[in-house]
Amino acid sequence: MSGPPPLELHNDGTYVDERTDFVLMMKLAEENMLGGDSRLLHLDDWQELERFYHHPLAKQAIPWGAPPSKNVTCKVEHSVFFEEDCQGRPHMLYIDQFAEPQNLAQGLYLHQLGESLENDPYVFNVQVPVGSMLVVQNHCWLHGRDKFIESPGLRRELLRQRGHFC
Ligand SMILES: [Fe+2]
Repeated sequence: MSGPPPLELHNDGTYVDERTDFVLMMKLAEENMLGGDSRLLHLDDWQELERFYHHPLAKQAIPWGAPPSKNVTCKVEHSVFFEEDCQGRPHMLYIDQFAEPQNLAQGLYLHQLGESLENDPYVFNVQVPVGSMLVVQNHCWLHGRDKFIESPGLRRELLRQRGHFC
């Protein structure tokens, strides 16, 4: 299948200074779409979680910045594993394209982590029908989009909402 590359697995809210506890992904319309399924991986299923969670850089702050198109001016700093839930399970805040590693070690860590996620056998695809939505706990689920075939008749309307629990 040719076309745009997949959107790699990530969490939302990595480059903004506000919590994103959940992400709501709704499909409003779709025509002539081939491919482009949502992809998901839960942290509990990630086979190499322990390798990266117990790595010396797992809790080291890294800067994250967004491109101008995102209309976010300030940069934030946080580690990839930024907190644990009430049962001590790790919560993650990661996106490859907006990380700004400050040295080779951070760059390698982020690169290897991304490769591990993309190649994990428990990543699965979900087809979201028009009118349906996915709701994920943002810090325990990584989400992305599979590759799709570009076509002149392709039309897709998606609604994304992000929020936090208060
Ligand atoms: Fe996302």
